[in-house]
Amino acid sequence: MSTSPNLKSNIKLRSGVSVTSITGKGLYKSFGEGEMRTTAVNDVSIDIKQGEVALMMGPSGSGKTTLLAILSGLLKPDAGKVTALGQDMWALTEREREHFRLKHCSFIFQGYNLFSSLTARQQLEIVAQWGDGASSREARKKADEILDILGLLKKAHLRPGELSGGEKQRVAIGRALIKNPDFCFADEPTSALDWAHGEQVIDILRSAAHDRGCTVLIVAHDARVIPYADKIFYLEDGKMVDDGGKSIHKTYGKMPS
Ligand SMILES: Nc1ncnc2c1ncn2[C@@H]1O[C@H](COP(=O)(O)OP(=O)(O)O)[C@@H](O)[C@H]1O
Ligand SMILES: [Mg+2]
Repeated sequence: MSTSPNLKSNIKLRSGVSVTSITGKGLYKSFGEGEMRTTAVNDVSIDIKQGEVALMMGPSGSGKTTLLAILSGLLKPDAGKVTALGQDMWALTEREREHFRLKHCSFIFQGYNLFSSLTARQQLEIVAQWGDGASSREARKKADEILDILGLLKKAHLRPGELSGGEKQRVAIGRALIKNPDFCFADEPTSALDWAHGEQVIDILRSAAHDRGCTVLIVAHDARVIPYADKIFYLEDGKMVDDGGKSIHKTYGKMPS
């Protein structure tokens, strides 16, 4: 893993200038035809700066996952533009976009997506080795450093079947962060966890953002995440009903989780 993107991020952060990391403008996405047509994302614009923790909230079915997929280059919008690190995401070829994601983005999903036959340590090592070209020794060192931060070093030799839900989610986060990504997209990363573990997860994501310049977008239901966010977006029926500030805390602070 090269340390230069990290260094660059820190230099930019220290200079005190907020660098726009990702923007979506006029995004639309609908599914189905005719009467079955659902507009999942309806004219949404969004802007997240480098090193920020942005939180996206809203009821089930409001378009959060769809918007996250569009912003991260996984799903093509019907209209609108996504610019990430100055790059028009949907002007890239499929292959270029894949390369962009591999190089810059990490994902944390609800279902962990861990390999059942690999130990916790190996889940991280393969990302460092195959994604970042680290030697097996470097990969092991990095994996152990991150597992230590996550409080999992003693369990490094265990496979997913031998880990609790909270531990699996922490392995998934370790795997997402080992490549020092520019972006981390997390869809409901705490929903399977009790709050003690959920809070740890959010704390780790926040330190990736604030200490390492990673731009973090978290989709969450749980209002307890709110104090950890720099910016909160609220979606309703595919529309952005509040964008950006933290005043939403007052309005939606008692949202059901
Ligand atoms: N692949 C799909 N095919 C058809 N409808 C979809 C698909 N993905 C999402 N939708 C619909 O789009 C709307 C928004 O979904 P989603 O983005 O998953 O919401 P959220 O993550 O906020 O729960 C929902 O009405 C959902 O049923
Ligand atoms: Mg969702």
